[in-house]
Amino acid sequence: HSMSLNISGSKKTGTSTCLLKIVRALMSNASSMRKHIDYYSRFSPSPLSMKQFLDFGSGENACERTSFTFLRQELPVRLANIMKEIKLLPDHLLKTPSVRLVQSWYMQSLQDIMEFKEKDADDEKVTYVFTDAVIKIPNRHNDVIPTMVQGGVVEYKETYGTDPIVSQNVQYFLDRFYMNRISIRMLLNQHTLLFGGKVRVNPAHPKQIGSIDPHCTVTEVVRDAYENARNLCDRYYMNSPELVLEEFNVKDDRKPVTLGYVPSHLYHMVFELFKNAMRATMELYEDSMDYPSVHVQVALGSEDLTVKVSDRGGGVPLRKIERLFTYTYSTAPPPSMDGQRSPLAGYGYGLPISRLYARYFQGDLKLYSLEGYGTDAVIYIRALSTESIERLPVYNKSAWKHYKTMHEAEDWCIPSKEPKDMTTFRSF
Ligand SMILES: Nc1ncnc2c1ncn2[C@@H]1O[C@H](COP(=O)(O)OP(=O)(O)OP(=O)(O)O)[C@@H](O)[C@H]1O
Ligand SMILES: [Mg+2]
Repeated sequence: HSMSLNISGSKKTGTSTCLLKIVRALMSNASSMRKHIDYYSRFSPSPLSMKQFLDFGSGENACERTSFTFLRQELPVRLANIMKEIKLLPDHLLKTPSVRLVQSWYMQSLQDIMEFKEKDADDEKVTYVFTDAVIKIPNRHNDVIPTMVQGGVVEYKETYGTDPIVSQNVQYFLDRFYMNRISIRMLLNQHTLLFGGKVRVNPAHPKQIGSIDPHCTVTEVVRDAYENARNLCDRYYMNSPELVLEEFNVKDDRKPVTLGYVPSHLYHMVFELFKNAMRATMELYEDSMDYPSVHVQVALGSEDLTVKVSDRGGGVPLRKIERLFTYTYSTAPPPSMDGQRSPLAGYGYGLPISRLYARYFQGDLKLYSLEGYGTDAVIYIRALSTESIERLPVYNKSAWKHYKTMHEAEDWCIPSKEPKDMTTFRSF
């Protein structure tokens, strides 16, 4: 306000009028964006099931117009919900350049979709331009994960040190923020793959419905992930453990285990687990020429599909297991930033992000360790496509409470370091 007063108070030259117009336009744009965010954040996101994704994308059902009308409502809802939640972060964090940068990307993408708010869905040109806009969004957000980890964890720690409550909030936030991101990318990707090309077939994977394979052969994905992890491992350690793979299908033991799932998600999880298992094995056995193999068991039951990756890399004590799922926790040296080759380890978000992929469709990822011996990492996936339903964060009072409630004192006794003097007991 004061800025416009100052400008209009000065002698109006051509440049200052022009500047005034720009400032006004920016301010009105910012305020209309704020209104959009407030409006859309009042809706809860609508989770879709794997079955819905499959039904919608199959054969004649796939309709660009329907997808357009769904997305122009659902994308702003998912974006606005998380944009509201970003604002609940502590002030210091919000001010870091990285968090601001990420916010500006979200703002831009929301604005890109808002362009279509009032447009006629029956006009083919509109849906065409929309699909074009949708294709461009994911690229803008490519670096969200490292940027957010940089701002939320690294920059913050450098300036303010570590505070257990802030760390807890950041962990809670990043889990929800990345889950939201996975879900938005899933929607964008489905739309792009189904309607972005001339034909509705993904040339690389003709049997897939967008990014979903209705009959994804689990062991194929496992082998593929193993081979790629092994290549990385060979480069670093000049050797790598073998793979022993078994599968069990409760329905028919002669048939390979298949299910309707996003192969790239499954690949991501197994690849991360292989890299971890291989690194642990190679570090423990160092110069020995013989390394215990990594064992993988795939089992399909009536409810769960389970993939267990077992290594003999020495394990992790129970006390540390939870820590492994925090962002940036890594025992590997930080990877070089030249981006020349992908490292075997070092970013520290392999496990937490993989767990999000598992949870995204109502599954989970757990680590069970036998310290001194090895680790079993287990991926759980829902076997039924009607049960695989997106798990989405929602901005509401309960979420708000997580950030705002003062954390109370511990409600379990904290064991003292020194054993109590037994005389105190006797005096009771
Ligand atoms: N199978 C395992 N055996 C022993 N330690 C493990 C195993 N898996 C994970 N860890 C420990 O957990 C830490 C975190 O694993 P995570 O995959 O999240 O990150 P990272 O492997 O260090 O880096 P990146 O993000 O590049 O994968 C590892 O640094 C390692 O110390
Ligand atoms: Mg890892």
